[in-house]
Amino acid sequence: MIPNQEGVLVTGCSSGIGRAVAIHLAENGFTVFATVRKQADADRLAELENPNLVPICPLDLTRPEQIPAVLATVQAELARKGKQGLYAIVNNAGGSMVAPIELMDLEKYHVELQTRLLGPVALLQAFLPLIRQAPGGRIVWIQTPALLPIPYVTSIHACDFAANCLARSLEIELKPWRIPNVLVRCGGINTPAATRSMQDLDQAFSQWPKERIDLYRAALEKEIASLGKFDEGRTDPVEVGKVVCTALKAARPRSRYQVGHMSNFAAFAELFPQSWVDALMARR
Ligand SMILES: NC(=O)c1ccc[n+]([C@@H]2O[C@H](COP(=O)([O-])OP(=O)(O)OC[C@H]3O[C@@H](n4cnc5c(N)ncnc54)[C@H](OP(=O)(O)O)[C@@H]3O)[C@@H](O)[C@H]2O)c1
Repeated sequence: MIPNQEGVLVTGCSSGIGRAVAIHLAENGFTVFATVRKQADADRLAELENPNLVPICPLDLTRPEQIPAVLATVQAELARKGKQGLYAIVNNAGGSMVAPIELMDLEKYHVELQTRLLGPVALLQAFLPLIRQAPGGRIVWIQTPALLPIPYVTSIHACDFAANCLARSLEIELKPWRIPNVLVRCGGINTPAATRSMQDLDQAFSQWPKERIDLYRAALEKEIASLGKFDEGRTDPVEVGKVVCTALKAARPRSRYQVGHMSNFAAFAELFPQSWVDALMARR
């Protein structure tokens, strides 16, 4: 289809993938409700002066009480543009943490579970009636490239295993209304998240009890070195924007799209028996 201001809500648009997706979709004719947590980030989006880009603040996915106001704004804007229903939601928001499970900060992990699993469900519960009204309505999930047990970044990957289950179960539950759930599985994308994770890890090194961090020091140092190399190949986030745009424009979107550095390799590795995959991950 050729976009004609169909409404798309994207979460986590302050930076990285969310911001790139929101801008690309707005440039390609969608009305984008770009949600952020901080007013300064909404202002930065507004400065782009794209009438298709509608910043919405605040939407913190750990704060479901903020959702009704977001819904009201979206409904009012869609009515103003004469659009029937919300065409799509892109679940993108998420934080990052690098740590062995034994030393993971439980408060941060809790926030991650809220952001990646509880918040998106609360959002969908509020918005599905509106998506049902839009011809061709759909849900997009920005995810890691494959279901792999990647050590030391479990706060993200464990959530993605669960989000993958949510998306695939929703695909079945929403079949009567033909609302597809599309996974956009991203490899290494060049966003501020990678640098931030490393800074957080540096800080954590100084906070964790020495006798316990010493148990993991060699493995983590190896991980940091390999991440440094991986970072050199990261893909521009606009490529994710292009893939999301393709998935939104397709009459029948695929259930999965792969994009970004090493994404295809990870998806290929996922096809092997779990025991092989686990052995491969242990050798990294
Ligand atoms: N970069 C990659 O290589 C890669 C690969 C695969 C998947 N992904 C996934 O892509 C998504 C975006 O990541 P990114 O790399 O673009 O990172 P990013 O630049 O750090 O963007 C993360 C976005 O999520 C928002 N966010 C975090 N916690 C939130 C919360 N509780 N409520 C609402 N928004 C929240 C952030 O807002 P604030 O600025 O307010 O914190 C920010 O806008 C994540 O889900 C990530 O796991 C990334």
